[in-house]
Amino acid sequence: MLFDSNTLHSSVDDPALDRMNFLNEITFTYPDAVSFAPGRPYDGFFEIEDIHRHLRRYAAYLADRGASPAEVRRGFHQYGPTAGQIRELIAHSLQQDEGFKAAPEAIVVTVGAQEAMFLTLRALFADPEDVLLLVTPCYVGIIGAARLLDVPVVSVPERDGRLVVADLDDAVRSLRSAGRRPKALYVVPDYANPTGSTLDLPTRTALLAFAERHGLLILEDSPYRLTGAAARLPMLKALDESGCVIQLGTYSKTVFPGARVGYVLADQEVRGPGGEIRLLAEDLAKIKSMITVNTSSLSQAIAAGALLSVDGRLSELNAEAAERYSRSMAGTLAQLDRRLPEARRHELGVDWNRPNGGFFLTLRTSFRTDIAALERSAREFGVIWTPMEFFYPHGGGEQDIRMSISYLTSEEIELGVERLVRFIETETTA
Ligand SMILES: Cc1ncc(COP(=O)(O)O)c(C=O)c1O
Repeated sequence: MLFDSNTLHSSVDDPALDRMNFLNEITFTYPDAVSFAPGRPYDGFFEIEDIHRHLRRYAAYLADRGASPAEVRRGFHQYGPTAGQIRELIAHSLQQDEGFKAAPEAIVVTVGAQEAMFLTLRALFADPEDVLLLVTPCYVGIIGAARLLDVPVVSVPERDGRLVVADLDDAVRSLRSAGRRPKALYVVPDYANPTGSTLDLPTRTALLAFAERHGLLILEDSPYRLTGAAARLPMLKALDESGCVIQLGTYSKTVFPGARVGYVLADQEVRGPGGEIRLLAEDLAKIKSMITVNTSSLSQAIAAGALLSVDGRLSELNAEAAERYSRSMAGTLAQLDRRLPEARRHELGVDWNRPNGGFFLTLRTSFRTDIAALERSAREFGVIWTPMEFFYPHGGGEQDIRMSISYLTSEEIELGVERLVRFIETETTA
């Protein structure tokens, strides 16, 4: 049987869904290139034995709480509750690290934050007039999830690398006057992917006031929050008094991504057809039951063991890695400063932001940083990066680069920056 792809869902031909594959392919094609592309956690701290330890710790925890050996076995081997079996431990961890109380029944354990996005968008977006606001550039996973679900997105571009709340107000007003319904805003407040930027406290409070003013939800996704050594600002969810924040969580960057464990905290109330009140999380769990049934019990057990090992303080579990990311970021910035001192930077029209941790930084150039430029960079200079335009659903970032430093050693960073600077100089003076 042969299909025309135009008889399939239009997303299958959308180049946006191919972009991550393209990055993987180019990395395989040029194995000797230094890659500033992957958004992976550093895996030098991962140990197979940790997995065994986490599993044993969780089994002991269940037994201590009165589970029989058969119940413990089932907890590992069987299908589990759709909403997840480690919700109390996640709530405890949020209390320990973030200082707010989350109701365990408002949590749904998911297959990474990616599934959390999918469930949330599926539940919230009911009508073609409903719109998701994205501050761009933004994470490709939310663009892709919206695309698969036919959720219309509207981009509100950052200005000079900053989210401007007044621009969001303008976008909401003009959408409403065109008869559309902005329903939610997706935002990554800490060490964002792809920019590396972090929202300051006034912007956090202004965002919450914005959401309240317009009756909008905020989807807070912050996987990189614990990947920097500096003091953290409060999560939006910790500041949320009106209940407008749905928090998407993940253990991909802190425990390990292979476990594929995340969660969504949705404590908003929903009135059912008979007037009965339930939590939005219950609706998300219903949707999940038809997608992944439940998050792997084994993976949840691993995440639970990791949380138990530090009494919920993931920040403690991740402290060494966070130090490393901050050091790598500082090292990358120092290399850029060394090879492109102020005067040279001006000559070349190059500039970058200065995160103090996280995985990413933004490099702005004065030439076209598209796939063709990336191919040249990989082939002729042995350095790979991500075109920032990948992170704009409606165009933008055509001269910008996302650099990811999470995975590299300091020697690789030094070599990679040297190569990148030679590439930039050649492109600019060509
Ligand atoms: C901003 C952001 N959200 C979510 C994810 C996906 O997380 P998970 O692996 O939990 O699906 C990523 C991963 O790169 C990310 O950068």
